[in-house]
Amino acid sequence: MGSVQTRTASHEATPAPAILAAFEAAKGFMPVDEGLALYAAASEAGRLGLPLLEIGSYCGRSTILLADAARAAGVTALTVDHHRGSEEQQPGWDYHDPQTVDPELGVMDTLPAFRRTLHRAGLEDHVVALVGRSPRVAALWGTPLAFVFVDGGHTDEHATADYEGWAPHLAEGGLLVIHDVFPDPVDEFTGQAPYRVYLRARASGAFTEVSATGSLRVLRRTGPGL
Ligand SMILES: C[S@@+](CC[C@H](N)C(=O)[O-])C[C@H]1O[C@@H](n2cnc3c(N)ncnc32)[C@H](O)[C@@H]1O
Repeated sequence: MGSVQTRTASHEATPAPAILAAFEAAKGFMPVDEGLALYAAASEAGRLGLPLLEIGSYCGRSTILLADAARAAGVTALTVDHHRGSEEQQPGWDYHDPQTVDPELGVMDTLPAFRRTLHRAGLEDHVVALVGRSPRVAALWGTPLAFVFVDGGHTDEHATADYEGWAPHLAEGGLLVIHDVFPDPVDEFTGQAPYRVYLRARASGAFTEVSATGSLRVLRRTGPGL
């Protein structure tokens, strides 16, 4: 994975040691520097008083940070995941973890681990988990959001659908955060679809870039154009 650049400010919110420890102990794919940037962005967006949304929770690693930022802001963290895993997490692929397979059904099910993660972190009450395919949930959605974190499927089909389905629900001043943005194909490990979505958001004229940390990009909605 290629690290791009990191910009931080001393006034940014940081998670309490117990929350950071829970994040580090949770199964998942986000390194600590990106987690801290995610937390700072979620905390800032929470000041808008609107829900924070995550697409792609897996076993709840990043969700811990969103949930704690939501708790502190007095808002709700919403998560969208079918909990059947992305393409690269299926049996036979590099990111497969056999422990995520339901032994009775023989298919992936990360929902039990996700729930255990949030319960152990004491954050269950701050999260509403929407279990289903992102475009189907988005098609029913009508509430403005302060924060949209895109970390679901990494194919062009899925990443594009996540952007098209959820970015229009961002309130002005809200933050769009995209994970696994790899401008250089040498660095990519699950494809460059998130990078293409990032470029599309930038080209829309509706967003201004706020920060870049590793493969995490934070953009602020500053206008119409979606
Ligand atoms: C890269 S993982 C998320 C990692 C997580 N944010 C973390 O910090 O560990 C991607 C997740 O997106 C989910 N996913 C993929 N495509 C989806 C879709 N179309 N709708 C809902 N969830 C999806 C998968 O089930 C998987 O749990």
